[in-house]
Formats: sequence, C-alpha cells, structure tokens
Amino acid sequence: MTFIKMPDYSIYIENNGLNNLFKYIEEIYPYKDVFVVTDQTVFKLYHQRLLDVLPDYRISFVIVSDGEKSKSIEVYQYVIEQLIEQGMKRTHLLISLGGGVVGDLAGFVSATLYRGVSYIQIPTTLLAQVDSSIGGKVAIDLKEGKNLIGAFYNPKLVLIDPVFLRTLSKREYANGLAEMIKAGLIGDKKLYHFLLENEEVGEHEIAMAIHVKREVVLTDPYDHKERMYLNFGHTFGHAIEKKHGYELYKHGEAISYGMLIALEIGVHMNETKPELYDEVKDQLIKRGLVKEPLLLLENYKDEILTDKKNLADGLRFIIVPKVGEVKIVKVKASDLT
Ligand SMILES: NC(=O)c1ccc[n+]([C@@H]2O[C@H](COP(=O)([O-])OP(=O)(O)OC[C@H]3O[C@@H](n4cnc5c(N)ncnc54)[C@H](O)[C@@H]3O)[C@@H](O)[C@H]2O)c1
Repeated sequence: MTFIKMPDYSIYIENNGLNNLFKYIEEIYPYKDVFVVTDQTVFKLYHQRLLDVLPDYRISFVIVSDGEKSKSIEVYQYVIEQLIEQGMKRTHLLISLGGGVVGDLAGFVSATLYRGVSYIQIPTTLLAQVDSSIGGKVAIDLKEGKNLIGAFYNPKLVLIDPVFLRTLSKREYANGLAEMIKAGLIGDKKLYHFLLENEEVGEHEIAMAIHVKREVVLTDPYDHKERMYLNFGHTFGHAIEKKHGYELYKHGEAISYGMLIALEIGVHMNETKPELYDEVKDQLIKRGLVKEPLLLLENYKDEILTDKKNLADGLRFIIVPKVGEVKIVKVKASDLT
C-alpha cells in the first residue's frame, strides 16, 4: 500500500484496497449510511462488490448515464434530488465511484448540497486515478464550455485500487496513460522512461504521477500560476475537444495531439530538442493515442482564440525544454499558424 498525504486528506493506493474500504471510512465517518454516485457501467460492474465490502452499511445508489453529458446542470439537479429523496442529510457521507465524469459531478454535488457534505473519491479509470481525483477541482459543464461551473472542494479521502483497471477498455487505459506521460514529461524523468519501456502501470507508477500533480497543486492550490504547468498540452487539447464536441477524441487523445503541438512550439523556439518530439510522437502512436497525419495547430486557432480561459490573460503556453522541466512562454495570436 502506498500512502500519500495531502494537507486535508489522505490518498491510499492499494491493490484490492476496496476490500479495506470499511477501515478507511471508519477513520473519517462515524455513521453507517453512505450514498454512492456512480455511472451505469461502473454500477453494473462493481455495485455488488461494494455491497460485499461494506456489509454493515446502508448503501443508497444514484446512477447516472456514462459520459461527459452527465456533467450537466440537469444531471446535477437530478443527483441532488435523488440524494434528498433517498434521505441524505448534511452529516452523511457521499462516495464518488467512477471515472472523472462521476468524480467531477459527485464532487460538485458534495461541494454544494447543503453548502457542503463530506465525500470520498474512489476513482475507477486510470485517468481519474492519476489526475481528476487529485487536487480538489470539481465541476460541471455548460453548453458554452467545459467545467465552467465548479469549486475547489477536497474529498475526505481518495482510495485508488488499481484492480479496477482490469475491466477498462484498451482505449480508456491509454486515455489515462496520456496524463501519465504528461506527468513524466513535466515532472518525473523516471516515470517518463518507465512508460517508454512498459505497457502496464501499477501502484508505484500511479503514485509517481500523483506526486507530480501533488507538488504543483500544493504550490498553487487555487490555480493562479504554477498549476498552469499541469496544462501542458491542454490548451490545444481543449481546443481539439471543443471543435469536435467532446465525442470524437477522448481527453487523453486530445491532449496527446496537444502535447505534440506544444513540443513542436518548443522545437521552433530552440528550447526543445527535435529528438524529444520524435520520441514522444512514437510513444503516443504506439499507444494508439495519436494517428498520422497529426492534427495541426492551424485548424484549431479559432477555438484557442475564443477560449475564455485563454483570453483573460493572453496566450501563454507551457513548453517542455527537457524531460522533467517546464517553461511558460507567451505566444502572439498572429504566431498561431
Ligand atoms: N477535476 C479534475 O482535476 C479533472 C482532471 C482531468 C479530467 N477531469 C475530467 O474527467 C472527465 C473524464 O474522466 P474519464 O476519462 O475517467 O472518463 P469517464 O468518467 O467518462 O469514464 C470513461 C468510461 O469508462 C467507464 N469506466 C469507468 N471505470 C471503469 C472500469 N473500472 N471498468 C470499465 N469501465 C469503466 C465509464 O463508465 C465510462 O464509460 C472529464 O469530464 C474531465 O473534464 C477532471
């Protein structure tokens, strides 16, 4: 078991850690009612396991459809109404069981229902285990854009059980690997090199990726400056997701194209060696995260320029001069060709 301490909560990374969920819950919560928000796929696969590992608890489930469309105001309201109807009180505990969609939605419900209830994250996708369940950002989408309504709201604990990853599709697995490759590139050479040579990840590598995010989040919990480093590849990635309606490309795929564009900018600025670009490109192709011909920056200019988050303080991009190093550069809108 690997234990990572955040200022307000603990992250446990443990194969078959779900079996010990009751112990972890007992440390933070004195009652026996828990309310689980999950999606249809995760419910089908794991609700019986949850009932089995928490025999002494009264468990109520709220199930939403799979996918980004569940991070909507309508589904947010539905979840809140269901929780109230099922008897959830302010002192009760909410469990988010699922990928990043469920985590963001259930986290935002927790931040706002009764002005805040306690919740725990049990992330079941690789992306959620290495990224979205860490750092306290929770949100839902508007038709105007992703994650436009949200909060910083930490869980009481995060339980990461890599055994969940066994039922993930190859594409979803790769989706999480993209964020791990990003973590390696921006902050951990060893992780980056491990991923170059190995197909699968386990407790140790998940912990390495979390450590990269942890360092950045602790330096800048409310996303004013350093947290921007985590956005390596994301400026372009978000533009790609936006242009294609969040359906065609998974987040990890979009940011993979985005990382290549950001590395290319680094190469043009003589900051990044072309060999690094080639190595990352080969790695992303091998993982099925990008395909040739690659997506080109010039086709996503409009989405970048109309992204409200980018316009507020100019166009600043993250580049990686060397593995494990990041730099913020300013790019003029006219240079986006
Ligand atoms: N809060 C943050 O800091 C943060 C960071 C990155 C991403 N995100 C958000 O995360 C979301 C994407 O999360 P995601 O990639 O996990 O997608 P997701 O939650 O949509 O999950 C992907 C699919 O995998 C299925 N699934 C989940 N666990 C499974 C398992 N163990 N076995 C089989 N299938 C399983 C789900 O049912 C779903 O169909 C986006 O909304 C993004 O904005 C948030």
